[in-house]
Amino acid sequence: MASLEDLIPTVNKLQDVMYDAGIDTFDLPILAVVGSQSSGKSSILETLVGKDFLPRGTGIVTRRPLVLQLNNIATNSSKPSLQSAAAEEGEQFNGIGGKNELQDHEITLEDNLRRNSENYQAPNTEEWGEFLHLPGRRFYDFKDIRKEIENETARIAGKNKGISKVPINLKVYSPRVLNLTLVDLPGITKVPIGEQPPDIEKQIKNLILEYVATPSCIILAVSPANVDLVNSESLKLAREVDPLGKRTIGVITKLDLMDSGTNALDILSGKLYPLKLGFVGVVNRSQQDIQLNKTVEEALDNEEEYFNRHPVYRTISTRCGTRYLAKLLNRTLMSHIRDKLPDIKARLNTLIGQTEQELTSFGDTGLINSENRAGLVLQLMNKFATNFISSIDGTSSNIST
Ligand code: GDP
Ligand code: NA
Ligand code: MG
Repeated sequence: MASLEDLIPTVNKLQDVMYDAGIDTFDLPILAVVGSQSSGKSSILETLVGKDFLPRGTGIVTRRPLVLQLNNIATNSSKPSLQSAAAEEGEQFNGIGGKNELQDHEITLEDNLRRNSENYQAPNTEEWGEFLHLPGRRFYDFKDIRKEIENETARIAGKNKGISKVPINLKVYSPRVLNLTLVDLPGITKVPIGEQPPDIEKQIKNLILEYVATPSCIILAVSPANVDLVNSESLKLAREVDPLGKRTIGVITKLDLMDSGTNALDILSGKLYPLKLGFVGVVNRSQQDIQLNKTVEEALDNEEEYFNRHPVYRTISTRCGTRYLAKLLNRTLMSHIRDKLPDIKARLNTLIGQTEQELTSFGDTGLINSENRAGLVLQLMNKFATNFISSIDGTSSNIST
């Protein structure tokens, strides 16, 4: 096995099956963006996903948490979801843990960006979004997804700058995304405006904490470069839940908007603030870029050019930009999963034992076949457990943490 990246789709699938079988799901890392209002959180997520679909802009735009579950689907597949497809045909399970299936799904965050910027034009019916509040309705046009997020935000959080802790759940199905859950969150604000309650700051902080307090959450702590880092709301909040800075990635946005003659080199090289995973500088699309409909790929290319040409940043340009952020995230996810393997393995072994016992109590081993759910789950778990062992043995030296 080449790397633990292979495990991400497997883990996600297993999660689906576990869910289907009524067993607790695994605690996988999610990614959440934290920061002050208009620091560029939604912009970062959008670029990482490689699609234009999130409401962005000056002022308070993100007013409900958006839980975005990316689902990798095989090319030319029209299956609504792995879960229902799996329930329909046992054949779907056969590849799990097997080489072919895994190779099809060997997609990393970097691939997301690269494939999206290689003018790779898939038929647009190959990828779509689906909201939990609108089951069964597929959104093929990502502009419509943005509109629906805006409408659904207004429906619950009102039209006058109010916020709500009720999340919007969106699943995106695409052959070009990595199986991953990302959370876009409202920004931290201090002064109530519009319909916001007097304790708006506290409410937003509590809302954010609900997501980032989970030890398996990877925090993208966003700070705009044109605000002094000692005033960074995101780092303050991240430190509350991750005091050792183990699962926080610092993201410095708006480097292009710093006062001329100043730069963020000290921050980016980790000299100002201790974070194990470090800081990454990015340049997102500006408000003008949004108005001019600059595409994700143009934005990524321009960003790269910015760092390559910059008199100061060009010395560290390989560690700058959204493409590098994707790489870093990928590595971080791998090491999180690796850390969890022993526990997952132990739980699986227990489950396998229990399921085997149950099946034996039916008195007919013939029940273990692909038409039988318990048999199916057992097969899957066995393959999965085998994979664990080989991945633990085979890749630990490849992972840099
Ligand atoms: P959020 O409120 O944190 O989600 O921030 P948004 O992503 O909605 O961005 C807020 C505004 O800042 C938008 O107008 C963006 O175009 C702009 N913006 C975000 N990041 C950058 C950046 O790196 N450079 C520039 N020039 N503008 C940015
Ligand atoms: Na904003
Ligand atoms: Mg936002």
